[in-house]
Amino acid sequence: MTVIRVCNATLMVHSPCEIDAATKGAILELGDVAYIVAPGTYHHLHVPSAQYAFPDAETYICPGIERKRPELDFDWILADRPPEALGDVLDQVLVRGNKLIWEVAFYHRASKTLLLVDLIENFTDQTQNVNWVLKLWWKTVFHMLDNPKPAPEYQMGWKDKAAARKSLQRSLDWDFDKIVMAHGDLIETDAKERALAAWKKPLSAS
Ligand SMILES: [Fe+2]
Repeated sequence: MTVIRVCNATLMVHSPCEIDAATKGAILELGDVAYIVAPGTYHHLHVPSAQYAFPDAETYICPGIERKRPELDFDWILADRPPEALGDVLDQVLVRGNKLIWEVAFYHRASKTLLLVDLIENFTDQTQNVNWVLKLWWKTVFHMLDNPKPAPEYQMGWKDKAAARKSLQRSLDWDFDKIVMAHGDLIETDAKERALAAWKKPLSAS
């Protein structure tokens, strides 16, 4: 989960984890949550928990979630432009072209941060709360240890590569110097070069 300050006392919760009482209290110390964002088709599980904790917030979802979770209440389906209230703070693009997984990538202007969930994962020997079996799996099967790449579902699902390339290129045009993602260690050096390397396959395919 990432929490973004939209304006003075207004927050956006991106890819919420389960919001228990302690987490809710910590967030409310920062401000009031006005927006809950489910940014990817695999990142919606704890939206109801966030909605329960912050009942006045609006919920924005990545397209596809409305079919996977028809019972989920939401206010808006995200696309290539941020909602008007968020346009000064964020830019966004819906990354198309994959048959297994979709995600809306965000750019936080003030911190020059690319905000992802599954489009890049970055596991290293230092990654916490991951056991050695999983690290071995990532190293030997997916070659993703110390080698940031999209989630396996992305790697197996590229279909319309021209569409994928167009949307990924739009995120690469943003002036970011760090990457926050849902799985693995944050990328705080050489961010654009590492994104280019992670997306080499969809970017180079014809
Ligand atoms: Fe994920």
